[in-house]
Amino acid sequence: MTGNIDYAQNSTNSIFQKKELKTLFREIAEVAEYLWQRGWAERNAGNFSINVTGFFTGKELDSLAAYPLNPLTKSYPALKRKVFIISGTGTRMRDMAKNPGANICLVYMCETGSSCHIITQTDEGVPVRPTSELATHLAIQQQLVEKKATETVIIHAHVTELVALTQLPAFTSEYAINKVLWGMHPETLLFLPDGVGFIPFTLPGSESIAMATLKGFETRKVVLWEKHGCMSVGNSIAEAFDHLDLLAKSAKIYFLCRSAGTEPEGLTSAQLQEIRDSGVGSMDDYNYLKFMI
Ligand code: 13P
Ligand code: ZN
Repeated sequence: MTGNIDYAQNSTNSIFQKKELKTLFREIAEVAEYLWQRGWAERNAGNFSINVTGFFTGKELDSLAAYPLNPLTKSYPALKRKVFIISGTGTRMRDMAKNPGANICLVYMCETGSSCHIITQTDEGVPVRPTSELATHLAIQQQLVEKKATETVIIHAHVTELVALTQLPAFTSEYAINKVLWGMHPETLLFLPDGVGFIPFTLPGSESIAMATLKGFETRKVVLWEKHGCMSVGNSIAEAFDHLDLLAKSAKIYFLCRSAGTEPEGLTSAQLQEIRDSGVGSMDDYNYLKFMI
């Protein structure tokens, strides 16, 4: 479906015709379709940000400064002169899958990181505004830059199976939720050896949820928001999606066993140890032992 479509065809803004952006639009379209098909992006649910600073020359960055300046509620000094693709607030993933260019904006951070220029593909119609979770996206993007991490993509989605898990009081701790997620399938431990962070319910779109999430991402690649959804970081939008897909599989197995009338045994500590000892994947001994022993 994403084959030869020109996702920037309706763009009157030449910046959106950049080869690198068009390639990225294809990847965005593919993942947006997955999120919609899996039922993880009802209505306007879900959003994402991608650091695309590397796509632009110094001269091109200067030209982005001509766009109107919007003050931010907080300053992000490490993000000065960085450019992000940010999904538009209120946009639907099912529309994103058909035309990413019309549903995202480019955000160019000013010299101090306290304001940003918002660039949309066309000045006609309603301009796209960044997601209401912008504070969380910028805070995590700043953390990634400061850590010199390789990840550039952050996705937020309402992964039904994971939200359902956080509705069960038994799983509202990092220990309990990691134990069940690792216990349902060996691949979960292999690909997410650091486990997931867990944030008790916090107001969506708030500065508090941004700060709490930031803490979770100090050591993890995925953070779950109680009774709301999750955030995932990746080197590509596909990789950030894969983390969520993997965790959803574990949660699904748990609920399938429960609906069959039984409490699943889960991989035992010995079996988890065996997986770790197999050396497949990249294990973090400290985090692994912290949870399982
Ligand atoms: P936005 O439409 O503002 O991105 O909000 C969607 C969402 O999931 C908020 O948590
Ligand atoms: Zn949400």
